[in-house]
Amino acid sequence: MAEPKKLFIKTYGCQMNVYDSERMAEALGGQGYEQTSSPEDADMILLNTCHIREKAAEKVYSELGRFKGLKAEKPDLKIGVAGCVAQAEGAEIMRRQPMVDLVVGPQSYHRLPELEARTRAGQKALDTDFPQEDKFEHLRSRPKAKRGPTAFLTVQEGCDKFCAFCVVPYTRGAEVSRPVERVVTEARDLVERGVREITLLGQNVNAYHGAGPDGADWSLAQLIWELDKVDGLERIRFTTSHPNDMTDDLIEAHGTCAKLMPYLHLPVQAGSDRILKRMNRAHTAESYVRLIEKIRAARPDILISGDFIVGFPEETAADFQSTMDLVAEVKYGSAYSFKYSTRPGTPAAERDQVPEAEKTDRLHRLQALLTTQQRAAQDKMVNKTVGVLFERPGRLPGQMVGKSDHLHAVHVADCTADAGTLAKVRIISSEANSLAGALIG
Ligand code: SAH
Ligand code: SF4
Ligand code: F3S
Repeated sequence: MAEPKKLFIKTYGCQMNVYDSERMAEALGGQGYEQTSSPEDADMILLNTCHIREKAAEKVYSELGRFKGLKAEKPDLKIGVAGCVAQAEGAEIMRRQPMVDLVVGPQSYHRLPELEARTRAGQKALDTDFPQEDKFEHLRSRPKAKRGPTAFLTVQEGCDKFCAFCVVPYTRGAEVSRPVERVVTEARDLVERGVREITLLGQNVNAYHGAGPDGADWSLAQLIWELDKVDGLERIRFTTSHPNDMTDDLIEAHGTCAKLMPYLHLPVQAGSDRILKRMNRAHTAESYVRLIEKIRAARPDILISGDFIVGFPEETAADFQSTMDLVAEVKYGSAYSFKYSTRPGTPAAERDQVPEAEKTDRLHRLQALLTTQQRAAQDKMVNKTVGVLFERPGRLPGQMVGKSDHLHAVHVADCTADAGTLAKVRIISSEANSLAGALIG
């Protein structure tokens, strides 16, 4: 038998890229590739890239530069660029870095075996189509190997919302949902292989409308209730949601579905209605705050997380203050915040930009507030009993690390529970980015 070829994949960007990288490794597994963690051993290097902010895209080119030496030593080494930079820049990547052999966009991963064969024949391979066929259906089914207790599962892709700052509708294409039965089959398979918690993924996951077994389109809440029936699956999460798709049945599920965890990532981006309008978000600060109240009425202990952009074009000091006020009112349990980054081809790129120093100052002020809130939410857990799904041993001997229902990292010393066990833990203390606790009973 031929020696397996070695594949090195580096993943940037969001969780959907993490999921896609797994599927690409499986697709190339059929071509005799095994994964390696060192680029020096690789016969193929794949960068699965992100285009969301300027820095993320530039990283790809500097990383490619670092592989130049490897390619010179090993002419058979193939270098590929996948993901959202591949989609956005296409052939331009090969012009800037002629050593790149393969460029493949996120909707064409099922064509990887064919593209890889082309590179082996000494050709360049480029595919950034948005094909009609369902890439997931064409990707090889997962091998039955055992895996860790948590997994991502993409149920919806693409976005039709066109926020004025965002590249996703261009890099991932139009919104598409996978049929219910395929999602449930994949979930069952994951559970058989040791998975206890599944995070359903989509750029607009709560806009999910996959074909149900009855032929009608099912909502995300309906899909969650179907997954609730899967024995051995203990926890369900989903990300990322848009406020305008937060339907009543989904809100209600947060109150009634025991497997659905009390954590919701619901980005608002900004607190000024003027800016929200310029962003094309189609919601106001007020409607967002009312929505959070409704969700908290259904599930009082739910932890809310968000995304924020500061320094969007034309954002004034008063607009920024509205963001600070909204944050003060909502009280986030966790959040991601970014300086606005100009993305060529998006509407906001053409508008009056906020000076960099002003963006930096706003980001620092916002992050200080968000960090205080994050810490407060964590501190509130002390002396409470929480569910923890253990994932792996910690740094200290005998220690185990897992995630609480509210997605806090929890470590337990002298822990008798194994990875994959869901146990009750009493929280003893709150540290910078995690909680410490002790097993109950
Ligand atoms: N689909 C998700 C998030 C997609 S991107 C949603 O709609 O919420 C993740 C986050 O990156 C966004 O929520 C936004 O806060 C940030 N982001 C997107 N484009 C950006 C840009 N041009 N500059 C800075 N941050 C950006
Ligand atoms: Fe981007 Fe807006 Fe779509 Fe989210 S909803 S992916 S921020 S365009
Ligand atoms: Fe980045 Fe593409 Fe995800 S731009 S955030 S990898 S959808």
